[in-house]
Amino acid sequence: ARPLVIAVDGPSGSGKSSVSREVARRLGLEYLDTGAMYRAATWSVLEAGVDLTDAPEVAQHVRDLDLTMGTDPSAPGVRVRDHDVAAAIRETAISTVVSKVATNLEVRAELLKRQRDLIQAARVGTHQGVVAEGRDITTVVAPDADVRILLTASEEARLARRAKELHGTADAASVEATRDQIVRRDSDDSTVSNFEVAADGVLHLDSSALDFEQTVDAVLAAITRIV
Ligand code: C5P
Repeated sequence: ARPLVIAVDGPSGSGKSSVSREVARRLGLEYLDTGAMYRAATWSVLEAGVDLTDAPEVAQHVRDLDLTMGTDPSAPGVRVRDHDVAAAIRETAISTVVSKVATNLEVRAELLKRQRDLIQAARVGTHQGVVAEGRDITTVVAPDADVRILLTASEEARLARRAKELHGTADAASVEATRDQIVRRDSDDSTVSNFEVAADGVLHLDSSALDFEQTVDAVLAAITRIV
């Protein structure tokens, strides 16, 4: 088989991470979570006590960042120096400020370089390919990917999913507690890329009415159709 690069973008709560991971597992490809890279950068910036509003200082910190991404879809790891940060980067303290780091253009330039290197390594590696997911993979990081998918879901569906993830239930109070994280973060992130509308040549898949398995199947079917 020839190397395969699959790019998946979408807003928070669209299910892109869990779906991309499962698709990578089924196809025997590597998995790259680029959001985890922005989260790990944010974790390190906070840990070092760097002022988040000092853009040049934040950028320098990220250029010097010793970050290791594990790309096994069954156990994707994230390490900063000798710290396993896989759990810490999911905390609310990171989610609420990650957009500040991710909208720093010098930070984006640095992580873009690393993401392209990781994708290239996966192309020539034993797994011969990767599912890379984020916000700008289909448009900026890998516009030449073999398959490009924008995975969206209605705000209502995304809030319910994230509430279930964080609180174990999607009752009214849990949905409200989740709203800030999802809606505000999307609006902060939208200054960087538009992930509501699919760019030219990008397949738009709306998962609002689909469960996890159905979404995985829809993505797999799209891949089979395209490659
Ligand atoms: O995907 P996830 O929600 O973990 O991403 C965390 C944050 O990283 C996003 O809110 C966004 O600010 C940033 N991000 C980005 N570009 C990507 C992936 C994530 O700016 N390709």
